[in-house]
Amino acid sequence: MEPRHSILIVDDEAGPREALNMILKPFYGVYNAENGNQALDMIGKTPVDLVILDLKMPGLQGTDILREIKHKKSSVEVVILSGYGSLKTAIDAIRLGAADYLLKPFNVTEIISVINRILAKKTQRDQLANFLTELGEMVGCNATVDEIRGSMTDQPAFLEKLKEMFSRMVTQGGPIDSGNYLEFVRVLSETLENKDPFTHGHSSRVNYYSNLLAQRLNLSEAEQRDLQIGAYLHDIGKLGVDVRTIYKEGSFTRQELLLMRRHPEIGVDLVTPIGLSHHVVSIIRHHHEFYDGTGYPDGLKGETIPLLTRIVSTSESFDAMVTDRPYRKALPVKEIVAELKRCSGKQFDPYLVQLLLEIIEEKGDDILPKRFQPVQPLTA
Ligand SMILES: [Fe+2]
Repeated sequence: MEPRHSILIVDDEAGPREALNMILKPFYGVYNAENGNQALDMIGKTPVDLVILDLKMPGLQGTDILREIKHKKSSVEVVILSGYGSLKTAIDAIRLGAADYLLKPFNVTEIISVINRILAKKTQRDQLANFLTELGEMVGCNATVDEIRGSMTDQPAFLEKLKEMFSRMVTQGGPIDSGNYLEFVRVLSETLENKDPFTHGHSSRVNYYSNLLAQRLNLSEAEQRDLQIGAYLHDIGKLGVDVRTIYKEGSFTRQELLLMRRHPEIGVDLVTPIGLSHHVVSIIRHHHEFYDGTGYPDGLKGETIPLLTRIVSTSESFDAMVTDRPYRKALPVKEIVAELKRCSGKQFDPYLVQLLLEIIEEKGDDILPKRFQPVQPLTA
């Protein structure tokens, strides 16, 4: 059972304050403040998750209070309360970090849905922050994920710890339990990719290219959502591979190659506690299978490799071609087209290659990483 969230209502007028109290008290812990100074004082002393902030008050103005809240405690969410006349100011407030705005007079259903959505996202972010802090504590410092992995002499123990943390997130409820984990895995995968220039944004780009292919394949919403989750998580098993191997320049030794090739299986083992759909598990396990059966880990061939997996594996290889790697620069579009044609029917599904070539033809340079726009996650 999740702890009740706390909301602070900041409004100089008693009427709206009381109305909001009536609406929110059945669901949340509610505090009240009549002005900015009182609000800032309470935020310093009370654990507040979200502030509903009136923009027009005597004394400290709403935008100044907002700035101060975000400066003092950036994890506190702020929803602006605005009359129609001050809509522009409300939009400006979003730019200062407000999560949303509510127009007066209130619409009860809208208030509850806006607040629930914001608090669900906050829970995800908080869980992720706790997750990363715990990882840091495993090695007794505030290290980056790569530093933690580099300093763990016992890789299996590190993976067991991660698995245990995933299990705990599921049993304790939260975004994974509620099935709304797309945003969570997106943040997780992007955080794990760290700031390495070769992997930074990789999952997000694989998601983008997969989505371009999916648009031409009439996939159902559920399939598209699984495709997005799989695109973000496909390489999660690389957490089980020594970072020095992953970022190595030059060719792998046989030992290193065998270890690298274990990442799909390690990935499946790692996410088992989350209970992902079979589509996603297949993407993680089989994204290095080749259409002609010469890939790994199971040597699956042709259409026995599920479609969503073939999409991610084509997109992943395409991303490898359009970005700089430790051992070579990004390939020019002409060479990419030649490479895709050469590998069609061997590494890649010929039909997906045909679709990808059409996309390249249509989009030209807009398909390259420097121009690409991240795909909006589908909500569960
Ligand atoms: Fe991979």
